[in-house]
Amino acid sequence: MISPIPTPSPHIFELQQVRHFYGTKPFAPDTMALDIDALSIPRESIIGLTGPNGSGKSTLLKLLAFAFRPSTGTILFNGKPEYPFSGNVRCNITLLTQEPYLLKRTVFENINYGLKIRGREQKLNGQAEEKIRYALSHVGLDFEEFAHRKWNELSGGEAQRVAMAARLVLKPQVLLLDEPTASVDVESAAMIKESAAMSRQKWGTTIVAASHDSKWLEGFCDIHLHLIRGRVVFT
Ligand SMILES: Nc1ncnc2c1ncn2[C@@H]1O[C@H](COP(=O)(O)OP(=O)(O)OP(=O)(O)O)[C@@H](O)[C@H]1O
Ligand SMILES: [Mg+2]
Repeated sequence: MISPIPTPSPHIFELQQVRHFYGTKPFAPDTMALDIDALSIPRESIIGLTGPNGSGKSTLLKLLAFAFRPSTGTILFNGKPEYPFSGNVRCNITLLTQEPYLLKRTVFENINYGLKIRGREQKLNGQAEEKIRYALSHVGLDFEEFAHRKWNELSGGEAQRVAMAARLVLKPQVLLLDEPTASVDVESAAMIKESAAMSRQKWGTTIVAASHDSKWLEGFCDIHLHLIRGRVVFT
């Protein structure tokens, strides 16, 4: 008998009974960093994440990136459970943190690194160069001017844009942004937003962005999640 082809879930992430507490904190409601009974994130959506300091935004983003496992509960990615550093996670989910981490190498090598470890490295340097040139253009950085600069020859905002280009070059299924505009100027903030919107349009990327800047989120997200003490209080 031919079994029917399963219909893919319209949700890229499904969280079920997810609770997280850090370190040796006892498992009690007031020490919970995150406490979500059920949350589904539609494929190709842009989610804006807000909430006061310590409300669990970064914890939620790290859990969606499968950087670590929740203390309890399940997170499904494309309908299946995943685990930290699985091939599927590394190839498809990328997180941009507030303080971007760059390798002590050139801009070119920083962007090429992700392509290499995800096995999409082009044999011909020319093709890798083309991709890196394209990614840099999306964050408004000129290839000739920036590609061969070292990590320590960039301003904070330029480093953030390079980190964004290093994620865009992967054409990710999921782009997680943790306060991506906290240290950049208005023009760079707009560029980060435009390049994220472009990745959804071109590659169907799902975006979850935590920000304290409600103006920046305005008109960008389809769904707004507000967290307080680890709980989603409204959507
Ligand atoms: N590594 C850690 N060890 C212990 N507690 C932590 C750790 N990281 C976060 N927490 C705690 O977990 C809770 C949620 O923190 P989280 O960083 O997710 O908040 P946030 O909403 O991102 O805050 P912010 O707006 O300041 O970035 C806070 O109470 C915080 O003190
Ligand atoms: Mg945070």
